Amino acid sequence: MTITQPTWVFGYGSLIWKQDFPYLESRPGRITGWARRFWQGSHDHRGLEHDPGRVVTLVAAPGEHCHGRAFLVEPEVFEHLDHREKNGYERIAVDIAFASGSVQGVVYRAAEGNPAFLGPAPLAEMAAQINRCVGPSGANRDYVLELAQALRGMGCADPHVFEVEARVLAGNAPQH
Ligand code: SIN
Repeated sequence: MTITQPTWVFGYGSLIWKQDFPYLESRPGRITGWARRFWQGSHDHRGLEHDPGRVVTLVAAPGEHCHGRAFLVEPEVFEHLDHREKNGYERIAVDIAFASGSVQGVVYRAAEGNPAFLGPAPLAEMAAQINRCVGPSGANRDYVLELAQALRGMGCADPHVFEVEARVLAGNAPQH
């Protein structure tokens, strides 16, 4: 998908709280038919090749909403974003709903079956993995805590994220 004009990119994970890219405008928004899950492995940001961390991806969930933040970016910014999200994520087209109406944009989704996909696991197991893993971008635990805090700051409740956060907080922080 070649992008030739300013385009909205919907962030639902680290894009919500870590903007290492320029943008023209940003707005809270939501997409429908998708749920956010800690089902994607990360060996380039929040874990290592032999011990991947867990980061969020989107799974199809008819009728459900996923809340996040959208950024209007110039076409050249996608080179940076494609590199940042390279570990299994693909850009797909999506309708993004704002309070003022909807726009067509894109979202980075790591589909089931990509080489880094981990899928579901019991909550306690996910929390232990997250508390253990550290990668080039930092502790996996911080990814979870930053995401939960950002969602709370926007007034968005996501039971899955908050459950994982609670389990992570109940466990031990990684030893650096
Ligand atoms: C996103 O934030 O929209 C994609 C997943 C991530 O980078 O955490």
